[in-house]
Amino acid sequence: METKIFKLNEIDQAAQAIKNGQLVAFPTETVYGLGADATNEDAVKNVYLAKGRPSDNPLIVHVASIEMVERYAAEIPDNARQLMKQFWPGSLTIILKIKPGSLSKTVTGGLETVAFRFPDCQPTLDLILKAGVPIVGPSANTSGKPSPTTAQHVYHDLNGKIAGILDNGPTRVGVESTVLDLSTSQPAILRPGAVTKAQIESVIGSIDLDRHHVGKNETPKAPGMKYRHYAPGVPVAIVDPQTDWQMVDKWIADQPFKVGVMAEKQILDQIAWSDNAVLYSLGDDVSDASAHLFGGLRFFDDQADVKAILVQGLKAAGLGAAYMNRLNKSAGGHHFDASVK
Ligand code: TXA
Ligand code: MG
Repeated sequence: METKIFKLNEIDQAAQAIKNGQLVAFPTETVYGLGADATNEDAVKNVYLAKGRPSDNPLIVHVASIEMVERYAAEIPDNARQLMKQFWPGSLTIILKIKPGSLSKTVTGGLETVAFRFPDCQPTLDLILKAGVPIVGPSANTSGKPSPTTAQHVYHDLNGKIAGILDNGPTRVGVESTVLDLSTSQPAILRPGAVTKAQIESVIGSIDLDRHHVGKNETPKAPGMKYRHYAPGVPVAIVDPQTDWQMVDKWIADQPFKVGVMAEKQILDQIAWSDNAVLYSLGDDVSDASAHLFGGLRFFDDQADVKAILVQGLKAAGLGAAYMNRLNKSAGGHHFDASVK
């Protein structure tokens, strides 16, 4: 199969492909998603196949109206309505109880809940409206790899496996949406994202944030959290905020291979890096860093002579909570330590 790149003036064709049960990757403000008609069970099954995704990991249902949520949710509680009013379209995914029998088990991974997202990306809202159905969309990467923030990243992972990619250029936010569970009386953030805990609390009051920190023997509430994620083919380590970058460079100079360095521009500019260091700028602040994190990991993943990647750690507050959550998973929890030979 030849994977077609749809331009923004070809949304009609992309919508037709979705209606025909084909897979079309779509842009959002966070990352690219792998789209299929949420009401077509065969199409949804193919999403799992194309990604290599475990079948117990449910998919987000992307909608372009609250009416679409009403078709599939058992009810929309008041707190959910308030949050939708405040943050939709936007990077907040809301989990609600499913209207029994309304969507297949393939979408929900057998759970009695569904995750809804109204992306802040007009081309994709047009795509959903033209297709006339909600569109399931996990991130459009091969399972385990960093999420795609450009159409080229999607093409790299899924060329030949999907009908097309709707290209809207690089995504703005760069880390996936906040996942908030409102299916029980105790709201919980299952995945931190661009809509912060403080922003959500300003609308619905105090919430239990800690569900996304899952202990070794606990079952995660979001099934996706138990799998290795965002991982390039070589080891990644976090460089903690107090680290002396001069020492980092000394360590790099001693290695028999090249090392990828991802840090803010201001840090990269401070040091006369050794020949072994291959640099990738994370920009000026936490929002730039979030937008560039996955792109940087992918940049190094494609370079055979880079055998390790060091990434600047940031304060885990606000958007930094989302950035550090993704970086921690990518690094498998490893931190840079200059004493390690
Ligand atoms: O920004 C985003 O959310 C992107 C774009 C494409 O919209 N999508 C995305 O989808 O990140 P995905 O499938 O890569 O991540 C969805 C996460 C997974 O960890 C999944 O386990 C969890 O949400 N999830 C989905 N439905 C759920 C449900 N009913 N209950 C609990 N967790 C759920
Ligand atoms: Mg994903």
